[in-house]
Amino acid sequence: MSTVIKEFSRFAHQYDKHNEIQARVAKRLVEKVPKKHYSSILDMGSGSGEVCKNVMHQGISFDLFSAFDSSENMLSLHPQNKNIKKICGNFNNEGFSTLLDQKTYDLILSSSALQWSENLDLTLSCMSALSKRLYAAIFTSNTFKTLHETANIDSPIYNAEELERSILKYYPNAHFELHRYTLYFDSTREMFRYIKKSGVSSGEKKLSFKETKRLMEKYPLDYLEFEVLFVEAKNV
Ligand SMILES: C[S@@+](CC[C@H](N)C(=O)[O-])C[C@H]1O[C@@H](n2cnc3c(N)ncnc32)[C@H](O)[C@@H]1O
Repeated sequence: MSTVIKEFSRFAHQYDKHNEIQARVAKRLVEKVPKKHYSSILDMGSGSGEVCKNVMHQGISFDLFSAFDSSENMLSLHPQNKNIKKICGNFNNEGFSTLLDQKTYDLILSSSALQWSENLDLTLSCMSALSKRLYAAIFTSNTFKTLHETANIDSPIYNAEELERSILKYYPNAHFELHRYTLYFDSTREMFRYIKKSGVSSGEKKLSFKETKRLMEKYPLDYLEFEVLFVEAKNV
């Protein structure tokens, strides 16, 4: 089990309180999806169901919604009904699509998850074989930019150019939109607690207690920065 998966599982029960940005991202993503009926929808890295909830609230209907996530704990919080299928699997594993209940889907959605793809070619080639239509929101390396600069560490996630280049290989007609978010905090302590619990920081080089304390003193902003690449793609 990788660090990413462990960290999400550990905080699964608290996740909903700490996902302000992910909630805004999922809402914005689903707002871009044409409102109609889809026979089957696959949500990659569905977590506790932010995308599914928005799909249901925003007038999109479906016969089957497959929620795919590597964390059983997150999936246990996902909405359920007879049209929703929860599948535990890892999109970094070759052949992850054999775990799914359909060979193809009408639509793939993915919000705040694909930044953890360890091999974009593998994940995206499987995804493009599964569906012609993709709507995704992916955090970029400009997330926590000033924090990383202050700590003198590299972002563990892809930059927007790398993401766009990889996506265009498999979805040549893809459209992109970069969106920045800021989240203000009353204290640095609160900010660091958020980072720890949000799951966004997973995979980063772990800082020692002393290093974290020094970083908290040096961090010049009273907000955190996020950058998200929104992708709309349709292969015809
Ligand atoms: C930040 S959460 C986003 C959850 C949800 N899509 C949302 O918008 O709130 C990222 C999710 O991706 C899942 N995830 C991370 N790496 C994964 C992988 N390799 N395969 C499948 N799911 C993964 C995590 O378990 C977590 O539930």
